[in-house]
Amino acid sequence: MSARGFGIAVVPGNTIGALLTEVADTLKDADIEQPTLEAGWLLEFVLHLSPLMQRLRPERQVTVPEWASVQAVVARRANREPLQYVLGTEEFCGREFRVTPSVLIPRPESALLVEETVRRCKDNFMATVVDVGTGSGCLAVSVAATLPEARVLAIDVSPEALTVARVNMAQHGVEKRIDCFCGDLLSPLNDKLANQVDVIFSNPPYIAEIDWMALQPEVRCFEPRLALAGGRDGMDLHRRLLQQAPTYLKDGGVLLMEVGLGQAQVVCRQAEESGWFSTFEVLRDEGGIARVVCFERKAGGASL
Ligand SMILES: C[S@@+](CC[C@H](N)C(=O)[O-])C[C@H]1O[C@@H](n2cnc3c(N)ncnc32)[C@H](O)[C@@H]1O
Repeated sequence: MSARGFGIAVVPGNTIGALLTEVADTLKDADIEQPTLEAGWLLEFVLHLSPLMQRLRPERQVTVPEWASVQAVVARRANREPLQYVLGTEEFCGREFRVTPSVLIPRPESALLVEETVRRCKDNFMATVVDVGTGSGCLAVSVAATLPEARVLAIDVSPEALTVARVNMAQHGVEKRIDCFCGDLLSPLNDKLANQVDVIFSNPPYIAEIDWMALQPEVRCFEPRLALAGGRDGMDLHRRLLQQAPTYLKDGGVLLMEVGLGQAQVVCRQAEESGWFSTFEVLRDEGGIARVVCFERKAGGASL
């Protein structure tokens, strides 16, 4: 925390302009990349005054309780807690999602999974789709909201994450259309779903052990390890999903998985070697990184 103001007795009569400068300086000292922008957002969160209004009314007085509230959120952010956990929300696919430290903060590149699921179901509105590792529920909610006739199942091994997912499902009015299950990968699925699923999509944890310490403090120290760590090479869950998915996918059903930098080729090779899948497609994110692998289940099963 900066010695420039926070922690020092607050002088009544401080203005928004002074507070903005103070907060931006504190965030800059904490190596936050966009201190001025974030200062505006944190003030907006506490004072309910948009960054535009903050600029138009820099002389507006800040009360002692307001100052104390700003101080509390700035201290969290200066400690490198992600802005989204401080604010409690993140935008994904045009919707706002509640986020807590029990869930991964949705990333924009995961929208590829939503787009591809919707594309694959465009001629089959009553499709059955499964979201493995639903976290905040951002993918399941986005798919359910776009495909109102689809049957959506959402699974996570973390009961705390499912609590957050249910809040988001209710918030977006799709809670009655998504069945939530707590358990390991596809194990909660009923035998009745064998060969019944059109699309299984997943953004599984995929950080390799060797990459863990290089993660930003916001990610490494605050986001759930369960949502990030994917074993030694980061692909433990991809391998297990490749084994489990064929049991539940229809002939021609699709498994979509998000992957990390450099993992797409390896996962494609494993899918090919399994003998269960016929087509292998890789989708790139806006940065050009191979981000989602798509595998279609062969008719009739493995040809090993
Ligand atoms: C990378 S996060 C993805 C969250 C969300 N789908 C998203 O895209 O923002 C991975 C999620 O998988 C869950 N998870 C980890 N291991 C799992 C397992 N064996 N079975 C089911 N879910 C698991 C984690 O709890 C976490 O919510």
